[in-house]
Amino acid sequence: MRKMTPENLRSRLWFNNPDDPEMTALYLERYLNYGLTREELQGGKPIIAIAQTGSDLSPCNRHHVTLAQRVRDGIIAAGGVPLEIPVHPIQETGKRPTASLDRNLAYLSLVETLYGYPIDGVVLTIGCDKTTPALLMAAATVNIPAIAYSVGPMLNGWFRGERTGSGTIVWKARELLAAGEIDDDGFMELVASSAPSVGYCNTMGTASTMNALAEALGMQLPGSAAIPAPYRERGQMGHATGKRIVDMVWEDLKPTDIMTRAAFENAIAVNSAIGGSTNAPIHLNAIARHLGLELTNDDWQAVGHKVPLLVNLQPAGSYLGEDFHHAGGVPAVVGELMAAGLLPHPEAGTVNGHTMGENCALRRSETADVIRTAADPLRAEAGFINLKGSLFDSAIMKTSVISKEFRQRYLENPDDPMAFEGRVVVFDGPEIFHATIDDPALAIDATCILVMRGTGPLGYPGGAEVVNMRPPAYLLKQGITALPCIGDGRQSGTSGSPSILNASPEAAAGGGLALLRNGDRVRIDLRKFTADILLSDEELAERARALAAAGGYPVPASQTPWQEIFRSLVRPFSEGMTLRGADKYQDVAHG
Ligand code: FES
Ligand code: MG
Repeated sequence: MRKMTPENLRSRLWFNNPDDPEMTALYLERYLNYGLTREELQGGKPIIAIAQTGSDLSPCNRHHVTLAQRVRDGIIAAGGVPLEIPVHPIQETGKRPTASLDRNLAYLSLVETLYGYPIDGVVLTIGCDKTTPALLMAAATVNIPAIAYSVGPMLNGWFRGERTGSGTIVWKARELLAAGEIDDDGFMELVASSAPSVGYCNTMGTASTMNALAEALGMQLPGSAAIPAPYRERGQMGHATGKRIVDMVWEDLKPTDIMTRAAFENAIAVNSAIGGSTNAPIHLNAIARHLGLELTNDDWQAVGHKVPLLVNLQPAGSYLGEDFHHAGGVPAVVGELMAAGLLPHPEAGTVNGHTMGENCALRRSETADVIRTAADPLRAEAGFINLKGSLFDSAIMKTSVISKEFRQRYLENPDDPMAFEGRVVVFDGPEIFHATIDDPALAIDATCILVMRGTGPLGYPGGAEVVNMRPPAYLLKQGITALPCIGDGRQSGTSGSPSILNASPEAAAGGGLALLRNGDRVRIDLRKFTADILLSDEELAERARALAAAGGYPVPASQTPWQEIFRSLVRPFSEGMTLRGADKYQDVAHG
């Protein structure tokens, strides 16, 4: 299995270059100044970076600061030399205007770090939503041996005997506040109960989704994703991960060997089975692009739509992260899919050198209600669908969270099954939504469709998680808790709304959403996967001319240099929100 020798390690070009002893001395001397020895740096040992995403600014990943010691111990035990390196912080809940803006910035900076320094392999410390894709994108571009290591979810949240899940409780608390059932202090207390320990969101939001998918892609050791952050197994997995990356360097097992087209198809199937976040297509499409693979939202529908929902976690179900771990985590989900013939590619390789099938074939759910069998799923056909039409070329809908109420009101019309029409009420950004949603002048009733625009990668740099909108308070009091929502922004993975989102192209890029006016009618057909404005082509063309004459859909000024650069280069959500120019660079460590 050994393909590499001490003589052909990448780091040797810096630390032990026989053709250039002078440069070797110049590179080397500064790394000795804090106590490293020549024996460590010149003894033929792999230099392993620990890409550290934890910091005081990043609470979800902060526990990695402690866990890194176990990773270091593992690296040293296997004969490597660990170097911990900082990653640009990405904190989902703390970064303005949105953490998503910084995914590509962290990606770029990690590419430069891994490319420009003496690093033979890297441990990617993942956790909070955008940290996982940013680091996997960088590993894809640089293509040195890489292994992901999750920080793990928080412990379950509890309030008065009931589980309170990250983010999901916020949607619930907002409804209670709007209906006058709790006050501001009650809101704070309820929300804080959902975050009882270190770790990332304990619901199947974007963080749990992306960590599970990093394992489904084969980039984490089996079972790594679901271990809660404070559990002893979390540190033990850190030690195993540190040991394994050293062997991966000797085996020259690289991201392109693991993240193949087959691996992405497995991840899409697993995403359906776990009830994963609608942010996943954006991030996986981006990682694939940086590997030179084409992955589109059509692939998500083709591979994922028919796969059943097996994992009973909020927001699609009832339980939380600790329950998922005790039920067997990702290996049990993969094992259940395999038992039903629903894993597309059991032969796909993984970081431990075994195939996904070898790792998971014998694994089964250990708690029947938390991870179901494919014969007894929470929901059949639970994957995403990809809608198209005059409103947009591509928009994602998460069918696993369509509630019974929603299904009855909109999808069970015997004359027009799986289709509905409505009068649209349009909001140009979340600020206007919050200021006006309860205004009776909008005359919103149960037949309306709420539209959010100006919130895509260009309009709200990075894309805002705002498409899922609550109905006005007067409808909530009548028991109408959800209206259909459409938008060019995203929604939090912790939301249980069946919104139609990530619409590409966005309004700010000339997408059909920009042409809508209050009172227009829109038709959604979930059998034909279409979303159309019910206006003549002539009327749409006339509106497009008028909009162009007025200078196009307004885009607010950038507030920082990076926002400006990001906006000048970004591709739509359907293409992973990657940067033009960046995705032509592949295999940069060797190319
Ligand atoms: Fe960081 Fe959810 S906000 S993991
Ligand atoms: Mg989020």
